[in-house]
Amino acid sequence: MDARLRDSLTGLDLKAEINRLRREKNAIILAHYYQTPDLQDIADFVGDSLELSRKAAETDADVIAFCGVRFMAEVAKILSPQKTVILPDMDAGCSLEDSCPPDEFGRFRAAHPDHLSLTYINCSAAVKAHSDIIVTSSSAEKIINALPKDQKILFAPDKHLGAWLMKKTGRDMLLWDGTCIVHEAFSETELLKLKALHPEAPVAAHPECPAHILDHADMIGSTSAILKFALESPSETIIVATEPHIIHQMEKSAPGKTFIGAPGADGKCSCNMCPFMALNTMEKLYVALRDLEPRIEVPDDLRLRALLPLNRMLAIASGAATDLTPAQTFPPVTGD
Ligand code: 13P
Ligand code: SF4
Repeated sequence: MDARLRDSLTGLDLKAEINRLRREKNAIILAHYYQTPDLQDIADFVGDSLELSRKAAETDADVIAFCGVRFMAEVAKILSPQKTVILPDMDAGCSLEDSCPPDEFGRFRAAHPDHLSLTYINCSAAVKAHSDIIVTSSSAEKIINALPKDQKILFAPDKHLGAWLMKKTGRDMLLWDGTCIVHEAFSETELLKLKALHPEAPVAAHPECPAHILDHADMIGSTSAILKFALESPSETIIVATEPHIIHQMEKSAPGKTFIGAPGADGKCSCNMCPFMALNTMEKLYVALRDLEPRIEVPDDLRLRALLPLNRMLAIASGAATDLTPAQTFPPVTGD
């Protein structure tokens, strides 16, 4: 944000202004658990990737203000093309999205026409358009288990999530070599030191973490599953191996408990905070609501191709889809 714009915001009651604008524009504010507490607290709904996709699909607001990263806002636009979707900072990307360029992925996909392409939602609309079914960390296991046992699968872009899913489901999958820079930043040595200090505390970890971190976890799941575990666990102290802003929701719901973020490389760096999510701020949310910019646009042909695998996920995740015969349901996608 440039200095002149910043000056023009001085003295504004941002919370009041955002509340006024959301009423005026019939806007809904969605926030991922990795956003800062101020954004989580002003949001109409805070959730994981699957929950936010569902919310985006069912809201009757005219405007969706998405406090999250670009691929999430893109999903909202794909599911609700008639709505205006704004992202407070258009540079809020994702290292997993960056690790999977659409043309390379299209070639990979085309090189394996007998494989079904299961793609983690953390990717661009163009990569979604090359995919058969989109998954989130909370829907992936269910979706894999719903596929015929002899169906060959390729999984992109997160190799750690893919490896964990292979272990969980006993299915072999061809993995794309992508990672999340945030979940890769946890240090096994520092985690072991922390566990030694709190031997009673279970470790809850996100499956985007590498195996050497997951090996020390008592629970592995999506952000909403981690939150549920942290609140329901009888333990008074929980070690949380995912982006630490989720701890805000834990502390709000269970103020008597202690939640400790798993450490990064030197035991105290903030390298496990998502730098992309951090680009969104209250100031930028206010400006986005005021100007209805920056706006997410997805060309209609791309949108329709990305919608199909997203809708399959939403259908299978809610138990609706039953016909999973690959040859009929999932015609091979060309690598254009
Ligand atoms: P979930 O909220 O679906 O667990 O995803 C975590 C994440 O990394 C989002 O970018
Ligand atoms: Fe992407 Fe990782 Fe940030 Fe999630 S935490 S948005 S996967 S970089």
